[in-house]
Amino acid sequence: MYSEDLKNSYPIFDTHCHYEDERFDPIRDELFREMHQNGVCGIVTCGCDQNSSKAAIKMAEDYDFVYAAVGIHPGSIDSGTTPEQIRELAQHPKCVAIGEIGLDYYWVSDNKEKQIEIFEKQIAIAKELDLPIIIHDRDAHGDTLEILKKHKPKGVVHCYSGSVEMAEELIKLGLYIGVGGVITFKNAKKLPDVVKMIPDELLLVETDCPYLAPEPYRGKLCHSGLIKYTAEKIAEIRGKTPEQILTLTAKNAKILYNVK
Ligand code: NI
Repeated sequence: MYSEDLKNSYPIFDTHCHYEDERFDPIRDELFREMHQNGVCGIVTCGCDQNSSKAAIKMAEDYDFVYAAVGIHPGSIDSGTTPEQIRELAQHPKCVAIGEIGLDYYWVSDNKEKQIEIFEKQIAIAKELDLPIIIHDRDAHGDTLEILKKHKPKGVVHCYSGSVEMAEELIKLGLYIGVGGVITFKNAKKLPDVVKMIPDELLLVETDCPYLAPEPYRGKLCHSGLIKYTAEKIAEIRGKTPEQILTLTAKNAKILYNVK
């Protein structure tokens, strides 16, 4: 069913996705098998609260090449999930990061203090357990940067959407920058300039699937196999081949998440 989109023989490491989404329920087994046969060598599926974090761990147990991240997303602050519950889940051997965590002033802006408190608590857990964090920053660039400068966690800013100037600050902090399908959109604006200046060793690719499918699949159900389109665009911007971008970003992902 997916083989035409998926045909690829280079390593794809999807550093950020949400495969617990129910849209994958009827197709997950088949999709994972086909993706794995077509170069997808690693997937980090992220939780947003306790339930989705548990689901991420279950998938990581079921599939060798799937890893879990656990966390409280800024949009799930009111889910009832506590940082202590995340701390417990994070001890699982296939949990490779705390995420998706961060700040979101686009969807919810009336609880900034609470968002910051939960973000900082989870950064502390990541540092205690020596795990990287997966950072969500939407319309909260200033506060996000301030917190990252203060605590200096290791991690990745996922689906980066900020300026070149902010990217320079993140790079100085040694943080990775995750580039998703948005780079293939016509309205990507300043993102191509950012993609041009990310150092080789800090560049990552991701889908954020089921969302943000790259062109020519924009608006459709996204999956990790579609990263090859994102890699084609990044390659064009950086003057490399898609194979070089996929090989480089898979290597970087394995270093960040400490997996073989
Ligand atoms: Ni996400």
